[in-house]
Amino acid sequence: MVAARFIAFEGGEGSGKSTQVERLATSLRATGRTVTVTREPGGSPRAEQIRSLILADGSADLDARCEALLFAAARADHITHTVRPALERGHIVLTDRYLDSSVAYQGVARGLGADRIRDLSLWATDHTVPDLTVVLDIDPRVGLARAQDANRLESEPLGFHDDVRQAFLDFAAAAPHRYTVISAVPPPDEVATLVRAAVDRCIMAGGLG
Ligand code: TYD
Repeated sequence: MVAARFIAFEGGEGSGKSTQVERLATSLRATGRTVTVTREPGGSPRAEQIRSLILADGSADLDARCEALLFAAARADHITHTVRPALERGHIVLTDRYLDSSVAYQGVARGLGADRIRDLSLWATDHTVPDLTVVLDIDPRVGLARAQDANRLESEPLGFHDDVRQAFLDFAAAAPHRYTVISAVPPPDEVATLVRAAVDRCIMAGGLG
């Protein structure tokens, strides 16, 4: 019996989440684990359609509440059609962004209210929360310079991204047993080693991995 695990990667723009998710998946598969890699917004066919609504070039006038509801709607579909079925099959599910992105971007940085936005996503996902959230931390001044193809959210002012960064650090500080904060500044190999160690601890914690 292998234990399923749900692991989320969070961080600001240019923190290298996608690279680290792929590297972790490769290293876990090499040890015989079955891994599902997914992302938000998106991760299921319908949620990918919602993603294109949210991030489309023509979405500059998207109302903030509409944006928050679309992220939550996409998340509900993603959980139902991708994440939960994979967990039921015993997979390790790695998601590039999850619920905390909504709380940080829409709740804190957009000012819609962290508690309200968290409650909305908890309702949307029937309270499906990650076993571990890996926060890849980077100063937005460095991260934004690394990021390519700025989307609508990346184009927000620096103060917005500072708020997002601080929000992720605050979530981690409030629940250290469910988070690990790793600096995204060192070379990807070094970051990957630290990520793998944190994930191994999470897998071992259930005693079944
Ligand atoms: P994406 O191109 O996937 O960026 P990244 O590589 O940084 O993950 O775009 C996703 C954007 O949407 C990103 O700017 C963060 C933002 N976002 C939210 O504002 N709220 C959310 O709930 C999620 C999942 C993402």
